Amino acid sequence: MAAFAPPPGTADIFPADAGTWRFLENTAAEVFSGYGYGELRTPIFEYTEVFQRGLGGETEVVQKEMYTFEDRGGRSLTLRPEGTAGVMRALTNTDVANGTEQRVFYYGPMFRGERPSAGRRRQFHQIGVENVGRCAALIDAECIAMLHSFLEKAGITGAVFTINTRGVAADRAPAEAHLREYFSKHISKMCDDCRTRLERNIWRILDCKQECCQEIIDQAPSYIDSFSEDSKAYFEEVKAALTALNVPFKVSPRLVRGLDYYVHTVFEVTHDALGEQIAIAGGGRYELFLPGEKKPLPGVGFAAGVERLIMVREALNAAVPDTAAADCYLIGLGADARMKNLILADKLRNGGKKIALELEERSFKAQMRSANRSGAALTVIRGESEMEKGIAIIKKMDDGSQCEVSENELFDYLLKHI
Ligand code: HAM
Repeated sequence: MAAFAPPPGTADIFPADAGTWRFLENTAAEVFSGYGYGELRTPIFEYTEVFQRGLGGETEVVQKEMYTFEDRGGRSLTLRPEGTAGVMRALTNTDVANGTEQRVFYYGPMFRGERPSAGRRRQFHQIGVENVGRCAALIDAECIAMLHSFLEKAGITGAVFTINTRGVAADRAPAEAHLREYFSKHISKMCDDCRTRLERNIWRILDCKQECCQEIIDQAPSYIDSFSEDSKAYFEEVKAALTALNVPFKVSPRLVRGLDYYVHTVFEVTHDALGEQIAIAGGGRYELFLPGEKKPLPGVGFAAGVERLIMVREALNAAVPDTAAADCYLIGLGADARMKNLILADKLRNGGKKIALELEERSFKAQMRSANRSGAALTVIRGESEMEKGIAIIKKMDDGSQCEVSENELFDYLLKHI
C-alpha cells in the first residue's frame, strides 16, 4: 500500500475525473427536474434504527455491512448505506403523510463494509430518486423510463433493464410455501448460504450466485402464479406502460433485490461492459415503516452507482467533458508582466472565464509546457519586449498561429475570443 493511499474501498476524485462526476450529477438534475423532482439533501449519518427498520433486520446490508458507532450520549448512529431510508425519514416531516406526492432526487456518498473489488467500494456514490406518497403501476413505469432516459443522456447506451414483481405482503406467504416445498426437496445439493436462507429468508435463494444452485433455482416453479389477481394485474400494467414508452426490458422471476422493503415492481440495470453480476442501478416500489409511524409510506425509486456508471462510460469511450480545462493561459516573463497578468486574470475570471497562469519566475519553455497542459485554446505571452511595446502576443494553440494585440484592447479581445 502506498504511504498516503486512502483507506481500502475509498478513493480520491481528482480534478481530471471530477468533470465526469459533475457531468453525471448535472445530467441527472436536468433529466429528473423534467419529471418534477427536486433535490433533497439528508445527513450522511442517521440513527441506526432508521436503517434497521427501513431496510429490514435480515438484510445483508444491516447484518454485515453497516458502519455503526455511538455518539457521546450513547445513541447508536450509522453512516448511511443507502439513500431511501433517510429520505423517507426526512419526508415524514413534510405533508407526505397526508397523501401529498413528493418527488425528490439526491446524490452523495454511501457506506457499506463490503470486501472491496472492481466496482465494489466501501464508500461509493449514488444518484437516486424517490417518488413517495402514492402507489400506481404507471408511476413505477414512469420512474423506470426516467432512469432509462438519464442513462441515455449520460452516454450509457445498451443498458439492460430486468424487472420483476414481489407482490404485496399478503402474496408472500402462499408464494413462500410454494418455494419452500420445492427447495426443501433439493436443499441437500445447494450451498450452505441457501440452507440458511431456506429458514431465514427464502427469497434470497433466488439470487444466489453459486454454481451448484443455478440449475435448481432455474427450475423452481413460478411463484408469481400464486400472487393475487390484483398484484398480477399491477405487474401487467407496468410492463404494458414500459412497452408503450419504448423502454426495452426483460422479466426475471429471480430478481428479488437485497433490501426487504420492496413490494410489487423491482428492477435492476446491468451492462455488458461490467457483466451480469454488477448492477449499475437498482430500485423498485416499496413500503417503509418509520420509527413512530403506524402506517407504512408507499414509494418507488432507484439508485445508480456513480463509480459503476463511470466504469461503463470508460468502456464505451464516452467523451469526458473537460470542465477542468482553462479557456486561456497567461505567460509572463519578468515581474511587471506577471503583475499585469495577475490583474488581467482576475478581471477575466470575474467575467466568467477560466484562466490559468504562471505567477512564479519560470523559463518561457516551462511556461509553454504548462500552457499546453492546461487545455487552453489561446495563450497570452508577455515578455519584456512586449511590455515595452505595450502589446501582448496571442498564440492559438491548435495551429500555432500568432497575432499581436495592444495592451488596451487585450481584455476586450480575450472576452470576445475565449
Ligand atoms: P442497491 O441496489 O443496494 O439499492 O444500490 C443501488 C446501486 O448502488 C447499485 O446498483 C450499485 O450500482 C450501487 N452500489 C451498491 N453497493 C455498491 C458498492 N459497494 N460499491 C459501488 N457501488 C455500489 C439501493 O441502495 C436502494 N436504496 C435503491 C432504491 C431507491 N430503491 C428504491 N429507491
